[in-house]
Amino acid sequence: MGITGIIGAMDEEVSCLKEAMKVERIHQIAGMDFYEGDLDGKKAVVVRCGIGKVNAAVCAQVLADRFQVDRIINTGVAGSLKNVINIGDIVLSVDALQHDMDATGFGYAPGIIPRMETSVFKADEGLVDLAEKVCREENPEIQVFKGRIVSGDQFISDHDVKMDIVSRFDGYCTEMEGAAIAQAAWLNDIPFVIIRAISDKADGSAEMDYAEFEEKAIGHTVKLLLGMMKKM
Ligand code: ADE
Repeated sequence: MGITGIIGAMDEEVSCLKEAMKVERIHQIAGMDFYEGDLDGKKAVVVRCGIGKVNAAVCAQVLADRFQVDRIINTGVAGSLKNVINIGDIVLSVDALQHDMDATGFGYAPGIIPRMETSVFKADEGLVDLAEKVCREENPEIQVFKGRIVSGDQFISDHDVKMDIVSRFDGYCTEMEGAAIAQAAWLNDIPFVIIRAISDKADGSAEMDYAEFEEKAIGHTVKLLLGMMKKM
């Protein structure tokens, strides 16, 4: 069974998990609080990494080095990149890439990390399938999709910027940490999955209601995460 590392970028994304957890110890490392304990009787470390790819990658590396986690789950919200994916729906990563990795001036295609074996980091199929099954049980009122998640150090809220990302990469949703965690997990040979609830359409259309949508969306991921821990 081992230890599950759970990363969320923002307090809102992990606070319910921390509340549900029997906390044994809080470790302060790299400016982050790592909550070690058990969730539904299973060993877990829950942490808020902060926003963006660097925070996310540092956090994943600490989970690898200091906690020797057996799997990493990244949870949170994201902007939809497909019309059929609505606010509140869930996207599970089949794989993840960085949409803002740009060495095109050096002859590489957009998103390709020069001199790496891969730039598209594949999620663990077992974790994806478990998340899908539990999601259908716990959140029957919403849709769940499996597809590519694209990450970058940009909050996408402009239609043209969104369409540019859509045209370059076949992403289902966009956010700011997943692919960095995926890359760190891949480098350390740790299985991972990214679970994102859609909070907006990544085009600025929902700015007014963002907070409300975000709260609802997070509710779906929390139910899903707790359900997954039960089955681990
Ligand atoms: N997280 C939630 N919505 C997002 C968006 N539109 N762009 C980047 N990250 C997000």
